[in-house]
Parts: sequence; structure tokens; C-alpha cells
Amino acid sequence: MKLLLILIIGFLGSLLINNYGVLSTEICTNGIDQVIYDDQLGYTVSDWSWAKPRNFTNFKPVHSGSYSISFVPKTYEAIYLNLQNPIDPSIISSVSFWVHGNKVGNQKVIVRFTSNKVAVSRDFFLWGDESIILSDPSVSSKALSKNIQAGKWVNAVINCDKLEPGQYDGIQIAASGEDVQEMVFIDDIEVNKRCISTNPYRNLMKPVSCDGHDCIVINVTETSSQMRWFANEIEYQKYTVTMKNTNNAAVEVLEFTGGWFKPRNSSDIWNVAFLEGGYYGLPDNVKVIYPGQEYIFGCVSIKGPVSFKVSYVEYENDKDRLTNSKPIESNSKPPVKTPTVKPTVKPTIKPTIKPTSKPTTKPTTKPTTKTLVSA
Ligand SMILES: *[C@@H]1O[C@H](CO)[C@@H](O)[C@H](O)[C@H]1NC(C)=O
Ligand SMILES: *[C@@H]1O[C@H](CO)[C@@H](O)[C@H](O)[C@H]1NC(C)=O
Ligand SMILES: *[C@@H]1O[C@H](CO)[C@@H](O)[C@H](O)[C@H]1NC(C)=O
Repeated sequence: MKLLLILIIGFLGSLLINNYGVLSTEICTNGIDQVIYDDQLGYTVSDWSWAKPRNFTNFKPVHSGSYSISFVPKTYEAIYLNLQNPIDPSIISSVSFWVHGNKVGNQKVIVRFTSNKVAVSRDFFLWGDESIILSDPSVSSKALSKNIQAGKWVNAVINCDKLEPGQYDGIQIAASGEDVQEMVFIDDIEVNKRCISTNPYRNLMKPVSCDGHDCIVINVTETSSQMRWFANEIEYQKYTVTMKNTNNAAVEVLEFTGGWFKPRNSSDIWNVAFLEGGYYGLPDNVKVIYPGQEYIFGCVSIKGPVSFKVSYVEYENDKDRLTNSKPIESNSKPPVKTPTVKPTVKPTIKPTIKPTSKPTTKPTTKPTTKTLVSA
């Protein structure tokens, strides 16, 4: 009897999606687990956003009720909602919300989930082929139909099978990139229960098919044609560089260097840490690139085939293997430190200090589980 009820509710749930005239994603839902926002935040939801300005009582447009959320996507700012009732993919099937692109549409917005207050999930995009927006059948171009639309509401649905197992204590709806984009409106953020008996959780995160530095996919794009100018008859261009972690382990140390990169001076690259020998690393505000996440920085160079190369990468698993295979003897006094002695630091302490040695000096001191790529 209970199972029948679940099936009926699930069926009604999928009908509801179909009633909006969009393709069902065929995610079975067993009713609402929690409402994160309808006209206000849910009782167990707190606003931890860093987007400014933002407005949780915007009254036009609304998808339902009296209010929606508005914010201006820019410089990676986000609406960040902390959840006292975390989202557990084993019992939650999907997270759904509605988004409106104001007069312009096509805003570049992503969604991430947090664990212990850190965004750890992959990025869910609101544009392009991988978009979580349910395709709008009234838009003829297939790619554009999955973007945020101008002047109307579209439904974005995150399939929780695309989350690693865990307890996610927050959701971030964030600007992708630095550009100031047109305001977006968000409404009816809902968390749906899973049909546990018919559609149990399966982790759809892609298996690893990369190794070492191959897991860092680098994409250099021209920031925009307006970001191009001549100085002393030399043409300069602003670039956006994306480094995506396609491994299923978090990147904890990343070092890279310019391939074809011709800046005027050191101010022509930002959101990077400056290491010795002209190498760059992850800045303090990034520290870790979780699986599926992108690390983005900007630069100015003489216009050309700008490229960057990863010179060194260290994954979380490397460290686990290292510490698991070498249990620490708690009573032994550390001998005089020499470069050949294994570090006696506990695994919970993350190295906050960047290694000062250049990548070229690493082969002699690095354990074999780490990946070194000669530049
Ligand atoms: C929120 O937006 C509404 C218009 O939709 C406006 O009247 C109100 O003053 C705004 N509130 C804040 C705090 O900006
Ligand atoms: C690189 O990024 C640009 C802009 O986001 C995108 O259009 C292009 O498809 C990306 N290329 C690859 C190989 O991912
Ligand atoms: C770098 O070059 C730009 C453009 O020539 C200049 O405005 C800036 O002051 C320079 N910065 C440094 C640190 O030299």
C-alpha cells in the first residue's frame, strides 16, 4: 500500500513537470522534502550569500506567490543558502528551482553544493549542452533552449545521482566569471524526496579516465573582443583561463607556467599565487579544486596562441595513500630533519605554506605517488 502511494506521488510529480510543457527528466520524485525558498527562506535555511546587491523580496517578476530572489551575477558572487537539513543524495532525488533572465537572458550561472561550508560538488551549469535547465521547446536552437531565457521562467533541475555520496549543507547559485551580467531572478527552490524503492541512488559521477596532469583540462579563451587594444603598435588581449579538475580526487597542489604567454609585467596575471622561478600556483582563496570543479584566472598578453602548462599536480588521494601506507609512530621523537626523512605531520594538517622549492628540484624529494610533469 505504501509503495503504491509512493508510486502515485512519484507519477504525479513527473506529470507536474510535464504540465509545464517541458521534457520530463524522468527523475522520480516522492514529494517535497524541504522548501528552501518560495516567498521566503525555509525555517532551517539561512542566507549566507555574498552577492551584493541581492533581494529576497523582489515582487516582479515572480514564478509563484508574491516574491522572488534577485541578484546581479558578477565576479563569482553567489546566493548561498545554508541548510540545517542537509541534502543527502541517498534519500533526495533532485533539487529544482526556477530562473528568469530579465530582459537579456543567457547569463552564465552555475550551482554548487557545499559540505562543511565548502563548495565541494561539481559545477552544474545553467547554459550549454550540459545545462541543468530543462530545454524550452519554444526556442528553436537546441543549445540556446537550455540557457536562461529573457522575459520568462525556466525550470532548472539538479539530478542528485550526479552528486557524490554525502551530506550537503548548502547550495550556491553563483556567477561564472568576472563580467557584470544582467540581473537574474530565482524562485521556488525545492528539494524532492527520492523514490527509494524504484529509483535508488546511483552515483553517476564519471569514472576516472585520466592520469596526473591529463586530469587538468586547460581552456584559454579571449575574455571579449572589447578587451583588446593596441599599445606601441602591439596588440594586447585579455584572456580567461579555466583549469578543470576531471579526476575524482581533489587537487590540493597545482603549479603551472606560461607556455606561449607574453604579459607586459606581473600585474598582467591575477587570481594566481606567484611562486619562485616564474611558476604560478593556486591562490589562497582557492586552495583546493574539488572533482569536476573549475579554477579560473585572468591574464593579459600580447595577442596570440596563449597557453599554460601544468608543471606539478598533487591529488588528495596521493596524500591518503601516503599517510595510510605510513602510519605515524606517535611516541617516536622526530630525528633531526633532513630532506630524506618522511614528514611526521599528521594527515589532518594541510600544508598551508607553498613549497618554496622550484618544481625542478622536486624529483629528489617527492614520493613516487605524486605526479611530476616536466615542463
Ligand atoms: C526588493 O525589490 C523590490 C522591487 O521588486 C523593491 O521594492 C524593494 O525595495 C527591494 N528591496 C531591497 C531590500 O532592495
Ligand atoms: C573553452 O571555453 C569556451 C568558452 O567558455 C567554450 O566555448 C569552449 O567550448 C571551451 N573549449 C573546450 C575545449 O572546452
Ligand atoms: C604594468 O603595466 C601596466 C601597463 O603598462 C601599467 O599600467 C602598470 O602600472 C604596470 N604594473 C607594474 C607593477 O609595473
